[in-house]
Amino acid sequence: MMKSLLCWPEPVIRVQSLAASGIREIPERYIKSPSHRPSLNNDVSQPQEVDVPVVDFQNLFSSDRGLCDEALRCVHNACREWGFFQIVNHGVSHELMKRTCEVWHEFFNLPLEEKQKYANTPATYEGYGSRIGVEKGASLDWSDYFFLLLMPLSLVNQSKWPAIPASCRELVAEYGSEVVRLGGKLMKVLSMNLGLEEDSLLKSFGGEENVGACLRVSYYPKCPQPDLTLGLSPHSDPGGLTILLPDENVGGLQVCRKGSWLTVKPVPNAFIINIGDQIQVLSNAIYQSVEHRVIVNSNEDRVSLAIFYNPKSDQLLEPCKKLLTKDRPALYKPMTYAEYRLTIRAKGPCGKKQVESLKSPRQSD
Ligand code: OGA
Ligand code: NI
Repeated sequence: MMKSLLCWPEPVIRVQSLAASGIREIPERYIKSPSHRPSLNNDVSQPQEVDVPVVDFQNLFSSDRGLCDEALRCVHNACREWGFFQIVNHGVSHELMKRTCEVWHEFFNLPLEEKQKYANTPATYEGYGSRIGVEKGASLDWSDYFFLLLMPLSLVNQSKWPAIPASCRELVAEYGSEVVRLGGKLMKVLSMNLGLEEDSLLKSFGGEENVGACLRVSYYPKCPQPDLTLGLSPHSDPGGLTILLPDENVGGLQVCRKGSWLTVKPVPNAFIINIGDQIQVLSNAIYQSVEHRVIVNSNEDRVSLAIFYNPKSDQLLEPCKKLLTKDRPALYKPMTYAEYRLTIRAKGPCGKKQVESLKSPRQSD
C-alpha cells in the first residue's frame, strides 16, 4: 500500500496571487502541450454551449405509486449516454445555494495571510490548496481550492473550515447536510434504475452512517492566456457521485462526449450531477464516469462548489453480484476506496487511466 506524503514536493504558488500580480504571460508550468489546450470560441467547429439533460426531481418523486417511470428513464438514459445530468426542483433552498456561493467568493477575496492559515498538505488535503497531484515537476492547473470533509460526522473538524467570513461554517454545515441528503436520494434512483434494491448502492458504500462526503470549492482566477492552460485538467471523479453547483454567471465546465469537448450551459438553480469511478465499478460499467475538465477565461474569476458523495474509506468495492452474467463477468477487481484515492492523489488528474487500470486481467487481454 502506498504511503501518503506529508508535504508538497515544491513551494506552493497561489494561482490567485499569480493572476493578481499582473503578469501578461503565464509560467511554463501552467502551459499545456498543444493537443491538451482548449480550443476557445474562435474555433467555429466547436459548439459554444450544450444542454446536458435536465431532470425535474419533483416529478421523480411525485407519483403515488413510487418513483415516476418517465423521470427514472430520463436519469437512466443520461447516465448511460452522458454520465452527466442536471437536476432542478431538487429541494435544496435556492437562497442557501446563493448565500453559500457568496460566502466562498468572500473567502477567496480575503488577504492571502488569512487564507494561508488553512494551507493544506497532501496528508489529508483538507484546507486551502493549489494542486492535486504530488509529482515533482508536474504540469499545474490554473486554480486554487478549499477542500473540507462533511461526512462521516465522526471525522468532521470544523476548526479546519474558514472562521472568516463569520457565517461560513454554519452555511457550509447546512448546505452540506442538504446536499448530502440529496445524494442519498440520487443513490436510490440509480439503484432502482440498475434493477437493484433501492438501498443497494448505499449499502455497498458502507451505509448511510458511514458514507463519505467532502466539499471542494474551486477558485479559477482570470487568466491572461486562457488558450494555453486549463483550470482543471481532464479527469473522472474518483468517488461515487458528484453534485456540482457551477458558477451561474461564468461557464467553464467541459464534458467529453464522443471525443469532443462540449461546454456545459448551466441551468439556473440546478445542480450538475456526474457519475464517479466507484459507480462505474459497482455497476460493472453499465454506468461510466465521463472525463471532464475546466477552461478559464481572461475576463472573470469563476467559483464552483463540488460535493463528492463517496464510499466509506475502507469499503471494498467490486461489481454488484446481481449485475453479473455469464456473458458479462466482473470487469473490475476489488479495491478499497482509500487505496484507489491514494493513487489518484499521487498522480493528479489523469483522465480515465485510473479506473481502466482496475480491469481484471482477463478483461484487458
Ligand atoms: C471537480 C470538477 C468542475 C468545476 O472538482 O472534480 O470537475 O466546474 N469541478 O469546477
Ligand atoms: Ni470533476
